[in-house]
Amino acid sequence: MSRIAYVNGRYLPLASASINIEDRGFQFSDGVYEVCEVRAGQLIDERRHMARLEYSLSELRIAMPMAPASLSIVLHEVARRNRVRWGIVYLQITRGVSHRDHAFPPAGTAPTVVVTARNLDAAAADRMATEGVAVISVPENRWERVDIKSVSLLPNVLAKQAAREQGAREAWFIDKQGYVTEGSSSNAWIVTRNGTVVTRQFDHGILRGITRTVVLDIIAAEGLKVDVRAFTLEEAHAAREAFITSASQIVLPVVKINGRAVGDGTPGPVAMALRRDFHNHAETS
Ligand code: PDD
Repeated sequence: MSRIAYVNGRYLPLASASINIEDRGFQFSDGVYEVCEVRAGQLIDERRHMARLEYSLSELRIAMPMAPASLSIVLHEVARRNRVRWGIVYLQITRGVSHRDHAFPPAGTAPTVVVTARNLDAAAADRMATEGVAVISVPENRWERVDIKSVSLLPNVLAKQAAREQGAREAWFIDKQGYVTEGSSSNAWIVTRNGTVVTRQFDHGILRGITRTVVLDIIAAEGLKVDVRAFTLEEAHAAREAFITSASQIVLPVVKINGRAVGDGTPGPVAMALRRDFHNHAETS
């Protein structure tokens, strides 16, 4: 079965789906994106992903290209046409096509909309969670508005590649004060020796992960101790547990940071419980 993409109003086989070479996404990374989990054929937390999309677009002054209800139909249709049961839907919106000029294109230039979807190996993801993953640390070198989910991801790409080359799954960015901001494609968490779950406060320095929001809801519902504040790499090394969250990975235990075991070096009970309970708290549509 050939995969299908949605491009500016048309559903096309991936091989013939294309965008103009003067698209501002291609030329300037002038666009935003969202990644939504698909589970049993349904979208997870679509409402929150769409709210964040509208936030990213408005911060960059890119027009919402279609009514939210129409966009929702497209997301579901792309998942359906690709027969995605367990996987992701990817949405990208750019400032559109125009002669190359750094400043905004003429008013009325239509944004480009691309949607793709694919299955992921759910069993492999569960295996990875059971084993836990390694992370490395890299210096924070991104711009100061990473709360906007922009497709401008070069530092994240280089950080992830550094992780891969060191046999790790993720790289954590460390700011100049020694605090962990977030991962290259996930939010970062620890559980301290006294059992308090810690994750950085939301500001312009991290992406407000949708998975992070739901996990904070679970923590509140289950009455766990939580401290929403920045933590240092040293605190992470001394932690009982660590984990990462993202739409495609849900909750993934971290068992090694820069080659040093976290806690007893196995996935922690808090991370595993949050992973287990996640879909009881997330929305489906
Ligand atoms: N990444 N921080 C960064 C830098 C991210 O790229 C992501 C998501 C997150 C977690 O956000 P959420 O829980 O809403 O997925 C945090 C997506 C999955 C990606 O780029 O593929």
